[in-house]
Formats: sequence, C-alpha cells, structure tokens
Amino acid sequence: MHRPTMMVVKSPEEIARMRRAGQLAARALEGVARAVAPGGVTAELDGLAETFIRDHGGVPSFKHYRGYPASICVSIDDEVVHGIPGTRRLREGSIVSVDLGVYLDGVHGDVARTIPVGEVDEETRRLLQVTAEALEAGIREAREGRTTGDLGWAIQQVAEGAGFSVVRDFAGHGIGRDLHEGPEVPNFGTPGGGVALRRGLTLAIEPMVNAGGLEVVVLEDGWTVRTRDRARSAHFEHTVAVGADGPEVLTRLNGTAPI
Ligand code: MF3
Ligand code: CO
Repeated sequence: MHRPTMMVVKSPEEIARMRRAGQLAARALEGVARAVAPGGVTAELDGLAETFIRDHGGVPSFKHYRGYPASICVSIDDEVVHGIPGTRRLREGSIVSVDLGVYLDGVHGDVARTIPVGEVDEETRRLLQVTAEALEAGIREAREGRTTGDLGWAIQQVAEGAGFSVVRDFAGHGIGRDLHEGPEVPNFGTPGGGVALRRGLTLAIEPMVNAGGLEVVVLEDGWTVRTRDRARSAHFEHTVAVGADGPEVLTRLNGTAPI
C-alpha cells in the first residue's frame, strides 16, 4: 500500500493550504461519524462524504487511487483498514473505522477514526480509547529532533502496554502534494531509530491496533485488510505538521461546522 517516495519539507504557505485540506477532511469525517447508526448502509456514508467534499471544492483523495473504487474506507469489526463501502448494514455493537482523504488546492489531508455503532462492550471501548491515546502519543513526538523510531516507539508503548498489538504490515507516511510521501511512519520502533524529523515535514500518523494478534490478511477484493485471528481492530489517524516547538494537528476539528 505504502511506497513512500521523497521526503518534502513544506513552506509555511504550503502548510497553510494543508491546514485547509485537513480542516475539510476533519469536517467531512465528523459528518460521517454523526451519520453512523445501526441499520446504516456503508455506501451511504461514502456518498455523504463525497458530496460534502466536492461541494466544498475538494476532491476525495482515495477515489481511483491505485484503482480504489470509493471516496472513503469503511472497515468493520475485525477489518483493519481499506474496507470498501457497499450494501452492508451497520449493526448495533459493531465498530466501524472510517478513513477519509481530501485533495484541496494541490495538497492532501488524511484522517481516520473508529466509531462505535450504538452501544459497544467494555473491552471494545477500551480498544478505541487506547488506539486514540496511542495516536496522541505519536503526535507528541512529531517535533524537530525526534525520529520516526521515537514516534513508533511511543505508539507501541501505549498499545502494547494495554495488552493490544500493533499492525506492522501497514504504516503512516509523509503527505503533501502526494497522498503518500516519505518518510514511512511505522507504528512501532526503537528510540532514536528511523529517520530524523525536521520542521516543515507533514506526516499522516495512523496506528492500527488489534485486540488479538498482530497478523493481518488481505481479502479477495484485493483491498480489505482484516485480522488473521478475527479479533477486532481500531484505526485512528491525523495529518500533522512537524514544528520547531511541537506538532500542529492539521485534521483536528477546529470548531467549524461539520456536514
Ligand atoms: N489512510 C489510508 C492510507 O494512507 C487510506 C488509503 S486508502 C486508498 O493508505 F484507497 F486510497 F488506498
Ligand atoms: Co494515511
């Protein structure tokens, strides 16, 4: 999935454009999250996102990307990432990971979160909470002087410390004019290892955390990734600018209205 190419340091002007793409992505995802309910059809969530993005001058980053057929990824329960929206209905007690990308004014924003469908059990709530915390721990490392290894280590500590496992076969990535740029941003690592982060890099940080083992398989459709042991999986993602004084989360909803 991820073949990161070059690392590209962005100018303040490019980061300003990425902020706008990121905010549109955040608003679209918030709208999708509010539409998640038992009985909902996954293709309807896709249509909602695509309409909102296009109505605001953007293009869904994922549509036709390497042949991907939809605007968002919808991955349910034991599905990890890259589930294709279709005729399936959401069921009470399930979890649904929604991943969404926006291309606006020449740059991309990439954001994801796992949403409970109605009431979910305690262990599932803990999986979502821990994965969101793992993302925040990774984000805190997105500053000059740290490395991708520091970032992956921080994520791994939170996820494994809670008794869960981290998916190794997919990673976060640089993002900007291209959806996938360098560096690769694994969700595991060793302190000081990997690539040095510098101010002006923009990263999509996206831990995928499994309630069971770390192994995943790709389904017959060529896209959907699910856990080998069929245990549940969660996915949270933000697009983050590396600053001298710390990270700026470009896809954190800043108070503007969602869909
Ligand atoms: N956030 C995911 C990624 O960075 C979404 C890509 S889905 C695809 O890989 F369809 F565009 F491939
Ligand atoms: Co991504």
